Amino acid sequence: MTAEHLFAVKGLVTIVTGAASGLGLAIAETMAANGADVVLVDRNEKELKRVGEEVLPRTEIAAVDVADPEAIRRLIDDVVARKGKLDVVFANAGISAGPGIVSPKGHIENIDLAAWNEVLATNQTGVFTTMQAAARHMKAQRRGRIVVTASVGGLRGAWATGYSYAASKAAVVNLVRQAALELAPFDIQVNAIAPGFFRTALGGGRLLDETATKPLEAMVPMKRIAMPREIAGVSLLLASPAASYITGSVFTVDGGITAA
Ligand SMILES: NC(=O)c1ccc[n+]([C@@H]2O[C@H](COP(=O)([O-])OP(=O)(O)OC[C@H]3O[C@@H](n4cnc5c(N)ncnc54)[C@H](O)[C@@H]3O)[C@@H](O)[C@H]2O)c1
Repeated sequence: MTAEHLFAVKGLVTIVTGAASGLGLAIAETMAANGADVVLVDRNEKELKRVGEEVLPRTEIAAVDVADPEAIRRLIDDVVARKGKLDVVFANAGISAGPGIVSPKGHIENIDLAAWNEVLATNQTGVFTTMQAAARHMKAQRRGRIVVTASVGGLRGAWATGYSYAASKAAVVNLVRQAALELAPFDIQVNAIAPGFFRTALGGGRLLDETATKPLEAMVPMKRIAMPREIAGVSLLLASPAASYITGSVFTVDGGITAA
């Protein structure tokens, strides 16, 4: 098979959440560049509009907060009603939990339950309701791909990670496995990408700040922070025919962090 056939995503109706920035934008750009019919979802309406006008003019945008279960369900129902199918969903939207346990502010006794719930509402329940709304349609059409952006912070403890982030990302890793089991007979494949450190706005821009990222680089065997475009290959793989027998898997893209 040629690479062209293995990675063909042309015409696939694809929803990407958290698509106005960072990894979601890189995923959406990759899918769109390869001919997919992409819907960009984000709660940051201003940035989403800018991306829709200036970066990806041939895509649709939808200003939706994935922490609102009704809103994400309505959006997915509407996309299917208009386009007649749903091929791929990237449940990527996520927020950071603030300081990691390396900082006193991130210590267990200082965790505020409202902030904990806010992170879980997007990173865990938001991912679940996105998967749930997509799976309803994918089950009916007996085909589909769901790709969740987890994190290496959900695979092990880490000083740089906050409690709610660690908990929510670990939760979605097992959500992916659970859904992969149930949905396999329907030819719906569910996988996770677990990134290491990527240069994005996550954590209030901390990962964009050269001085703040120096100590993080030291933790990475490849000794650098990744660029968002370095998520492109694995996202295209998981949406494409090349992944025809892959489900319930977690793909680390972390410069070797979890090899240690
Ligand atoms: N950057 C990293 O190093 C890294 C590492 C591991 C995992 N991740 C994960 O990658 C995903 C993307 O993060 P990123 O690094 O690109 O960050 P980012 O902040 O650049 O992008 C996240 C996007 O998601 C949107 N978003 C946040 N909450 C939302 C909600 N409730 N509803 C709709 N949109 C929402 C934001 O507005 C933003 O546009 C997240 O799930 C994050 O946890 C990132």
